[in-house]
Amino acid sequence: MLKTFSMTLPGLLFLASTAVSQTVPDPTALDPVKVQQGMAIAPVPLNMKGLDPNLVGYGSYLVNAGADCNGCHSDGTTTQYAKGGNPYFGQHAIVNPATYLGGGRDFGAFPNSTGNFPHIISRNLTPDSTGLPVGGDTFDQFLLIIRTGIDMDHVHPTCTGAPNGTCIPAPFDGNLLQVMSWPTFKNMTDQDLMAIYTYLSAIPCLEGGPGEPANRCGPAVKTKAVADPKNATVVSGEIQLDGSTSTSADGKPLTYQWTIPQGSPSAAILHGNLAIPTVQFSQGRGLYTFLLTVTDSTGTSSTDVATVNFVGN
Ligand code: HEC
Repeated sequence: MLKTFSMTLPGLLFLASTAVSQTVPDPTALDPVKVQQGMAIAPVPLNMKGLDPNLVGYGSYLVNAGADCNGCHSDGTTTQYAKGGNPYFGQHAIVNPATYLGGGRDFGAFPNSTGNFPHIISRNLTPDSTGLPVGGDTFDQFLLIIRTGIDMDHVHPTCTGAPNGTCIPAPFDGNLLQVMSWPTFKNMTDQDLMAIYTYLSAIPCLEGGPGEPANRCGPAVKTKAVADPKNATVVSGEIQLDGSTSTSADGKPLTYQWTIPQGSPSAAILHGNLAIPTVQFSQGRGLYTFLLTVTDSTGTSSTDVATVNFVGN
């Protein structure tokens, strides 16, 4: 009996992991009520570019209403919620976007604090500069991780000798993710896991987390004024300046202010608070300069100068 059992066990396990007939996901067949609810409860702005909105919405529903990924994959109990938004204080819950799924929560020394064992720390699930979630994982890699629990980063090998603070002792298998609820999540359908993966592709990148390189989100966008044209020669007495390629650190709209710096002949600036104002050269031929100051929503400013050589009449 036992022998038969142990012989069929691998077969059973194999069957169990592929038991649900996994067909090609059809996003339009997803429950539209859950898709809509998922979009409504996503606590961060989503980048939907190139992504199926049904999968993103459904994935958000699973992550934010079901599997509580952020309960473990934020930075810890004190920063998981924004200031004034901690439901455990009796406040209206506001998830902290600065730690959302960015990893870093410390589950303590594993398997216990009596030996010289490493801490288990949740990982960063946000996309990196490749745009792929979990720091550049393909869907196949993600599927493998959730189905098998394999730790592709080999953060904590199994101890071969005495515990040294970085390995975990047998019978725990250091090749496998510990604490992480993959033994439950592995029972999800391919389509659900694809929805979660797609949702994780849409959330903003966060820096940090175990094993992540510095600047994983790519070079930071700065608030920077760009005033055009530069050294243009024009005959028309009225032209447009262009500050529209200026960049904003937080992606929110900039305010624009065009002025005439000291030393430049004066000109009329129409709508000097627009990205693209019109200027009229009122003082005849000459080299005109225009100073652009952009300010972002945090109050950070940057300046640049446009220069125009007016040769008309
Ligand atoms: C009970 C806490 C917990 C929950 C809930 C949880 N995780 Fe994890 N997860 C962890 C921990 C801790 C690790 C790192 C484990 C380790 O170092 O051994 C991890 C690791 C991972 C990894 C491996 C990352 C890598 O870099 O290879 C992925 C992927 C992952 N989790 C995805 C998820 C998703 C998706 C959800 C929600 C559906 C989720 N986790 C929910 C605790 C959790």
